[in-house]
Amino acid sequence: MKAMGALLMSLALSACSAEQARRGTDYSHVEVPVARLASDDARSRGRALFEQKCVLCHGARADGNGARSKGLSSKPANFQNPQWRKSVTPLEVFEIVSEGKRGTSMPAWPTLSEDQKWDVVAYVLSVAEDGP
Ligand code: HEC
Repeated sequence: MKAMGALLMSLALSACSAEQARRGTDYSHVEVPVARLASDDARSRGRALFEQKCVLCHGARADGNGARSKGLSSKPANFQNPQWRKSVTPLEVFEIVSEGKRGTSMPAWPTLSEDQKWDVVAYVLSVAEDGP
């Protein structure tokens, strides 16, 4: 019985580290650049990136109604919705942009630098308050 418990425990641990190895980054240790998130410059750089890379699915008004959104199995969120804004943390959004969302059409963005990802996070999080 004891051996069984230990085996299950080690299985759980190895599953955990495999998951971390796959993602490469342990996001709980990533520092959130609070000033950058509030910066108008970062938000407007993020908006420009969003226009290049994200509008196809998320829409020019960031409301989830991009040209490509129709055919997707799950629809992108409406970033204008204050309920959506309240449901996420900056770190969660950063992780989604970095890793994508498995099982959905949301891709990972390994081509964006850390700074670019935070800029786009700053923009996405500002939409509910400041509009698209
Ligand atoms: C090919 C289509 C596509 C592109 C391009 C795309 N996304 Fe997404 N994204 C999605 C879909 C679909 C979801 C919803 C996934 C789900 O079902 O939870 C999503 C989800 C998200 C979420 C989580 C919020 C939510 O629940 O919808 C964020 C944040 C996000 N995308 C940001 C971005 C950013 C930033 C870019 C550009 C760098 C981008 N996306 C480009 C399709 C896309």
